[in-house]
Parts: sequence; C-alpha cells; structure tokens
Amino acid sequence: MDVLLAAALGYLLGSIPFGYLLTRAAGLGDVRAQGSGNIGATNVLRTGSKKLAAATLLLDLAKGLAPVLIARALFDQPDAMPQAAYGPVPVAALFAVIGHCFPVWLGFKGGKGVATNAGVCFGLAWPLGLTYALVWIGVLATLRISSLAGMSAVVCAAIAAALLGYTPFVPVLVLIALLVIWLHRANIARLAKGEEPKVGAKK
Ligand code: G3P
Repeated sequence: MDVLLAAALGYLLGSIPFGYLLTRAAGLGDVRAQGSGNIGATNVLRTGSKKLAAATLLLDLAKGLAPVLIARALFDQPDAMPQAAYGPVPVAALFAVIGHCFPVWLGFKGGKGVATNAGVCFGLAWPLGLTYALVWIGVLATLRISSLAGMSAVVCAAIAAALLGYTPFVPVLVLIALLVIWLHRANIARLAKGEEPKVGAKK
C-alpha cells in the first residue's frame, strides 16, 4: 500500500508540466510547438526567456526532490536508506521521473527527465545529487550541449550509487538512466551527426 501511495505521489507531482504552464502563462505559446518540442528548461530557453528557463529548471528539480523527501518522511526510513530497492522511496523517485516524461495532462508527452532526476538524486542522498550536479554543470560548461550533459549526469549518478554503497538506489537509477537515454534518441542521432545545437546558439 505504501508503495502504491508513493507511486501516486511521485507521478502526481512529477507530472506537473511547469515548462508548458510557465510559457503559456507568459504568452509565449505552446513550448511543444517550438525547438525540440520538449517541455524542459533547455527548450524553454529557446523561446528566448532566460528567467522562465531558470524557473522551469528549478521547479522541475523541485518536483523530483519533493516526492522523495515526502516519501522518506511518511513511509519509514529512520536511517538514510530504505531497506529495499522496491520500497516507497525509490518508487516515488521512479514515478516522479515517469510523471515528468509521460504526463497524463499533456497526452503522455512530456519532458526527458534530466532536471527532475537531479531533484530525485538530491532527495535520495546528497552525494548522488552532488555527483549529478557536478557532472551536469561540468559537461554543460565545457561542451555547452544540454542533452549530453544531462545524459552524462544521469549515467554517472547510477554509477556513483553503486560505487558509494547506495545499493538500494542502483536499480531505480539504472531504470531512470535507460528511460532518459531512450527519450534522448533523437538527440543522440543529432550528436552522432554533429548537429546537436549548443546552448545559446540561435538554432
Ligand atoms: O533536459 C532536456 C535536454 O537534455 C535536451 O533538451 O530540448 O535539446 O531536446 P532538448
């Protein structure tokens, strides 16, 4: 029962499409009809609003962090880690990312999960969040390719969970990494052809 509630909590919070809502509210139209069609911060930036992109990034991160912290508070875990990989906390984490990527409110077509998974990682364990942030920012600052930075962070967080002993979180982070990479398949094709746009570029 706890696991079902955690899944519902994660999905409901994760599925709030902040990028779509903020750009609509600002009169910038439907972000899904622009750029890559994604509802995440990178594509919101392509509408020309740095402020909305930053707000989308923070809110998408928060909606990954919140369900994990709420699940930890509600459903046990007196110590930092849950007993099982299929316990309420990892399940809340997984469904927050699923909610972002497949929001019922937008016909199940949402974002690619990178910012939401950052919040998830900080909620699971701060060293995982720190690893995620350092890799994400590091790759973005050097190569300025958002998709590559995001995929690198997602993969490194799963590896860090295994190396640092956060064993119960490894399966969920591997599942999220597979999902995020699959959702980036068009980006990967563009990367392979050297056609992936850089952040700040006109196209
Ligand atoms: O977080 C999404 C990012 O990794 C890629 O976004 O719009 O370039 O496909 P986009």
